[in-house]
Amino acid sequence: MSTVPTVTHTFLVNGRRVQVDSESDVRLLWVLRDRLGITGPKYGCGINVCKACTSHLNGRAFNPCAVRVGDLGPDDEVTTIEGLPDAPDAGGAEDPDLHPMQEAWIAQDVAQCGYCQPGQIMAAVAKVRAARREGRDITDADIDEIRNICRCGTYFRIREAIKDGARRM
Ligand code: FES
Ligand code: FES
Repeated sequence: MSTVPTVTHTFLVNGRRVQVDSESDVRLLWVLRDRLGITGPKYGCGINVCKACTSHLNGRAFNPCAVRVGDLGPDDEVTTIEGLPDAPDAGGAEDPDLHPMQEAWIAQDVAQCGYCQPGQIMAAVAKVRAARREGRDITDADIDEIRNICRCGTYFRIREAIKDGARRM
């Protein structure tokens, strides 16, 4: 039987305040998927390697399988692929239900099985944002740094879509 006490955790997810009663050491990915029903972040490895769960914490990429729910504070904002169309840099999308990076993904016909794709898109948006914070455009070297695994090998189309998405953002 677990001796870790259950605590009420509160934080923001996709613009909504949530409260979750959980042991503090439960990884956020399980809280998102199993407790909150937010299944865009995918479970691939659970040990911060595959990046299938990539989401944003306060606007920057992170992997919720590697973060304990107890490490989040009330002002922390988690954004998953479900909330990406409402991000401040989504305004350039033609479809209000999509982020410009998602529109680029469709235009470049990136997905194969699709399992890694939410994480790929979240990583791509974070990379474009990081370059913009430095006052520049995304480069091939930036894209090389993305470590999200695609078992279907869609890497060429991902690269094209990231550049397309950056132009749309
Ligand atoms: S499931 Fe999070 S990095 Fe693999
Ligand atoms: S599209 Fe199948 S794992 Fe990437």
